[in-house]
Amino acid sequence: MADTGVLEIILKRIEAVDGGVDSQDVATSLSVDHQVVVGAVKSLQSLGDIILAEQRSSKHWELTGEGQETAEKGSHEARVFGAIPEEGLAQSELMKLPSGKVGFSKAMSNKWIRVDKGHEAGPKVFRMVEKIDDSVQGKLVQIQKGIAADVDEKEKNELKKRKLLTEVTVKSYWITKGPSFSTIITKQEAELTPEMITSGSWKQRSFKPYNFEALGVALDCGHLHPLMKVRTQFRQIFLEMGFTEMPTNNFIESSFWNFDSLFQPQQHPARDQHDTFFLSDPAVSRDFPQDYLERVKKVHSEGGFGSQGYKYDWKIEEAQKNILRTHTTAVSARMLYKLAQQGKFTPVKYFSIDRVFRNETLDATHLAEFHQIEGVVADYGLTLGDLMGILHQFFTKLGITKLRFKPAFNPYTEPSMEIFSYHEGLKKWVEVGNSGVFRPEMLLPMGIPEGVSVIAWGLSLERPTMIKYGINNIRELVGHKVNLQMVYDSPICRLDS
Ligand code: PHE
Repeated sequence: MADTGVLEIILKRIEAVDGGVDSQDVATSLSVDHQVVVGAVKSLQSLGDIILAEQRSSKHWELTGEGQETAEKGSHEARVFGAIPEEGLAQSELMKLPSGKVGFSKAMSNKWIRVDKGHEAGPKVFRMVEKIDDSVQGKLVQIQKGIAADVDEKEKNELKKRKLLTEVTVKSYWITKGPSFSTIITKQEAELTPEMITSGSWKQRSFKPYNFEALGVALDCGHLHPLMKVRTQFRQIFLEMGFTEMPTNNFIESSFWNFDSLFQPQQHPARDQHDTFFLSDPAVSRDFPQDYLERVKKVHSEGGFGSQGYKYDWKIEEAQKNILRTHTTAVSARMLYKLAQQGKFTPVKYFSIDRVFRNETLDATHLAEFHQIEGVVADYGLTLGDLMGILHQFFTKLGITKLRFKPAFNPYTEPSMEIFSYHEGLKKWVEVGNSGVFRPEMLLPMGIPEGVSVIAWGLSLERPTMIKYGINNIRELVGHKVNLQMVYDSPICRLDS
C-alpha cells in the first residue's frame, strides 16, 4: 500500500472515532507490517500538529508453536489417553508415541490412566476413566480466539511453564487528533522561493517550521587525537608568550647530548638499561663538536668553570651510545650549544612539545613513551624569581592559578623545584611539573657567557590531556586499544575553561 494511502486511512479512522486509534490495530486491520504504520505516524508528525502520537506498550499472551499444535490436536496427555485401547497398551509401546513421555506423566497425575506391572511382556497401561476433559486444549483455544477471560493468570503461567504460551510486549502508538487536525494532507513547504513571492502563492501555502535544534551532518574528515589537540593549545600559549619552537624531530639521541652535556654523570642510575632504551643498530654516534666534548669531559672528570666536577674517569664510549631520548632537555642542550656558537649572545625563549622514551613498568598511568612539554629562557641575570614568575604566567594561561614549589634535584639544574598545583576537583596539591636553573657546569662548557642564566621547566602532555578529557587509563589514550570513536567524539580543547 502506498504510504500516503496509509496516512489518509489513519486520519479517516481518527476522525471517525471519539478517542483515538492504536497503531497495532491499524496494522492488523490493514494487514500491513506495523513498521509501515509507524512510518506513517512519523510522517504525519512531521507535518505539524495534525495528530498526537503517544508511545505505549502492552502485553498479551500468544500461543507458541507447540501451543498451536495442542490447541488443534489436544494436549499430550489427552493424546496418550486416546491412544490406549480397551485391552491396554504396553508401556514400552506408549513411550514411543510422539506425545509419550510428557503425556504419560501428566495423564498419570491426572489419574486418567494406570500401570499394571503383572504382565510377562512388561508393564501395561490401562485407562482408568471413561471420558476425559482436556482443559489444557480448551484454555489454549480460548486464548487463541481472544476470549481468554475465563483463563486466570495462574493458569496462563502454568501454560507458560509448559512452553505452550508466551507473553509478548507490543509497542505501539496511541494516535489522537492534534490541534490542527485535518483529513486533508497538504505538503508543507520547506523553503520560501522567489517564485512564491512574485506570484503571491506563498499566501496559500503552509510552511514547515525551522528546526533550530537539528544537528549538522557529521563532517567526513580526519580527526585530531586528543593529545594533538592539547598540544596545539600548549603551543598557542608558548607562542603568545613569545617563545620559539625547537626542532625536536629526532627520537634517537646520543648519550652525549641526552646526559653528558647536561652534566649527568656516567654512573647515574637513569643511564642504566632498566631506565633507558639503548639502540643496537646504529649503536654509537661519533660526530661531536670535538672541543666542546673535551670541555664536557673535563668538567665531569676534573671540574673547572668554578666546579669540582665529579672526579671520575669519563669515557667517550659511554657518551657515544645511542638511545631513544629520555627527555626533550636533550634538544634544549643542543639548542643552547648552538646559541653559544653564534658569536654575540642574544636572549632567547624556546619551547618544545614532543615524544620521549623510558623503560618504565607499564601501568594505568605509565607507558614506555610519552610527550614532554618544555620551556627554556636564557638571558643575563635571570633568577629563581623570574622562573617562578614565568611559571605563574604560563600556568595561569592554563587556568591554574594556585602554585607551590618544592625543592628537588636534577643533575643539570640548581636550584631545582617541583611544581605543584591545587586541584579543585581532587581537593589536593598535585605535581604538575619540574623546573630549575641550569647549572654553570652545563652552560659554561657550551660557551654561554658568564652572567647569563637559563631557566627551564618541563611537564608531561599526557597528564593534562587525561584530566581534560576524563580518561583514567593511559591505554585508552595511547596504543592499540584506543577506541577510534573516542578520537572522533573528543571536542576541541580549551585549557583555560
Ligand atoms: N627534563 C626534566 C624531566 O625529564 C624536566 C626538566 C626540564 C627539569 C627542564 C628542569 C628543567 O623531568
